[in-house]
Amino acid sequence: MPIRRRRDQPVSDQSAARSERRALRCRVTISRIGILTSGGDAPGMNAAIRAATLVAAQRGIEVVGFERGWEGVLDSRLRELTRRTTSPGSGIAPTHEVDTCASLGGSILGSARSKRFYEASERAKAKEALSSSTQRVDGLIVIGGNGSLTGAHALHTEQGVPFIGIPASIDNDIGCTGTCIGVDTALNTIVEACDRITDTARAHRRAFVVEVMGRQSGYLCMAASIAAGADAALFREDGRSEDEIVAIVADTVRRGFSDDRGKQRVLVLKAEGIEIPCTRLVRRVQEALDLTHPDLEIRATVLGHLVRGGAPSFLDRMVASRFALGAVMALAEGASDEMVAWQSPLSGGTPTVDRSVTRWSLTKVLDETRALLDGGSGVIKQRVALMHAAAGVLAL
Ligand code: F6P
Repeated sequence: MPIRRRRDQPVSDQSAARSERRALRCRVTISRIGILTSGGDAPGMNAAIRAATLVAAQRGIEVVGFERGWEGVLDSRLRELTRRTTSPGSGIAPTHEVDTCASLGGSILGSARSKRFYEASERAKAKEALSSSTQRVDGLIVIGGNGSLTGAHALHTEQGVPFIGIPASIDNDIGCTGTCIGVDTALNTIVEACDRITDTARAHRRAFVVEVMGRQSGYLCMAASIAAGADAALFREDGRSEDEIVAIVADTVRRGFSDDRGKQRVLVLKAEGIEIPCTRLVRRVQEALDLTHPDLEIRATVLGHLVRGGAPSFLDRMVASRFALGAVMALAEGASDEMVAWQSPLSGGTPTVDRSVTRWSLTKVLDETRALLDGGSGVIKQRVALMHAAAGVLAL
């Protein structure tokens, strides 16, 4: 049935019609796709698995899940995520396990950081495996962070394996996208933890340095410090030396507990990207305080993997599901070597049926990711400038 475009159609209908026309024009026969979750797990990965499976099943496409990321592809560890059904429609439906997994943290498929997949020879084996009769798939949905997307890009470039990437990393350190699966839940977990620490800090009129994950990205620390009402935020992108950081924290504590401020607690958030162990930082600050204010106490708390677990938030489930719709439709359209992005801070990208979701080439994503981490990206400069503007407010 030809799809005609009517001028008076609202934009979303027009782009839906355009992508359907594209799908019809360049539809590769996609009858079976593979999904994998790779790298650090992130709350919301299961919501993406479920949504991708439902979108595919609705189109009559079978879905298999590779267990523990690229390791599952290399070791032929996979399982069916869809089943045949007699109910009306495509005749394919998600398995019960998939249908009920969206509220779970972690990944039902498991995840791993595959060192083997760094080797081109192993990627060639992966291509072979993905073409074998037992685990043949027409394309992959790769849910993961920078390392996983870089691996998928190499597999596509070297072996021509079609894939669409879905950004999943609590670190929010992936280029072209405003957020990644897991970021919102991790932020909520950090803020809740800071509220708990605030209770005991107030009771003892103490200061705390709370360290949060994020690898080289200070995003979690920056965003959570504002929401948790922290007195200061320490993140790698600021490029401060250890001595400067010790002085900043000691000064923040002294001023916070000074008579004119009269605070009952002082809270400092530290990104793990700052490579001073939290315990050493706190010990050095305590030594500095003992010289001037021996009655003041400071403690350290490292949240660690706590922020990676837990039931995914509304936002992570919603974003993950809408990523999945965009990704499966892109694969069905014959697109590859692209990543879906949420409310991209950059202009450009290929529109999808969803105004908040655009598609970006992996080359662009990886370039922008490098710029995010080396500080060259306008996005990171904006974030740091915002934090500097907020610093005075935070410390009030
Ligand atoms: O990338 C997600 C992340 O949680 C980082 O924030 C952290 O540095 C790293 O993974 C921890 O890795 P692992 O789970 O292998 O210890």
